[in-house]
Amino acid sequence: MGMIIYLDGKYVPEEEAVVSVFDHGLLYGDGVFEGIRAYNNRVFKLSDHLERLYESARTLILEIPISIEEMQEVVLETLRRNSLRDAYIRLVVTRGKGDLGLDPRKCPRATVFCIASSIQLYPDELYEQGLEMVTVATRRNLSEACNPRVKSLNYMNNIYAKIEANLAGVSEAIMLNQEGYVAEATGDNLFLVKKGKLITPPVYVGLLEGVTRNTVMEVARDKGIVVEEKVFTRHDIYNADECFLTGSAAELIPCVRVDGRTIGTGKPGEVFWGLLNDFRELTKVDGPVIFE
Ligand SMILES: Cc1ncc(COP(=O)(O)O)c(C=O)c1O
Repeated sequence: MGMIIYLDGKYVPEEEAVVSVFDHGLLYGDGVFEGIRAYNNRVFKLSDHLERLYESARTLILEIPISIEEMQEVVLETLRRNSLRDAYIRLVVTRGKGDLGLDPRKCPRATVFCIASSIQLYPDELYEQGLEMVTVATRRNLSEACNPRVKSLNYMNNIYAKIEANLAGVSEAIMLNQEGYVAEATGDNLFLVKKGKLITPPVYVGLLEGVTRNTVMEVARDKGIVVEEKVFTRHDIYNADECFLTGSAAELIPCVRVDGRTIGTGKPGEVFWGLLNDFRELTKVDGPVIFE
């Protein structure tokens, strides 16, 4: 059975879920999106994702034609129509159809669509063994040029970095900011564990403020772990006890080798396993219910 997609006010079969070649989301990457997970009949941290979506749109002066409450219902109803209780959800708002020029004022109405799918994103052995990453030459976008806090459809910066990781034969890239401080991976935030403390770069370094990042910091504090948001360099990664990434798709995923250096013992660490366990417990109980 094919998927049912929400597109501009209607729930349609996937074959009918098509957007115009004049849509500025396609022509210019002009738009915003969210990647969201549903677990156990609930949409995890849905309000945080919707808040970020509307904030990103506001920065771009992109008017979303439906309210945040209506958008919440779109997400829930798309899941219901696809009989999904556990899913990966992609919610997208593009600038809409315009002409071939880039001026957003030529696009009278934003395009909104929501896809809910059951795909499994990362294989289990990656969690058991941990990833290998390299630092790449491509720097994270300068906040004053293309702010990484806006979750826009323009992912070219991240894709350049991903290509470098692919060419190096590793799974992920670490991106630095213009000053050489660690920012994030291509689609995930980065954490270190050092002497029992959890450390992650602050948002002002130039990174996406991940919903999973914020949740992991809360979960850690609840466990009594000291959490610090502070700038650090590659040196700090090489000398960390543990390193892991966070993101809605990956949850928490350990990283055991960076730029040829083994991190800690070379195996996913105790703090990582403790946090992953508590995070997964939270995913079972947080968020609005899909089927009453
Ligand atoms: C560049 C980037 N950083 C971090 C993240 C993690 O964000 P979240 O935890 O909200 O999924 C994402 C997720 O899509 C991302 O694209």
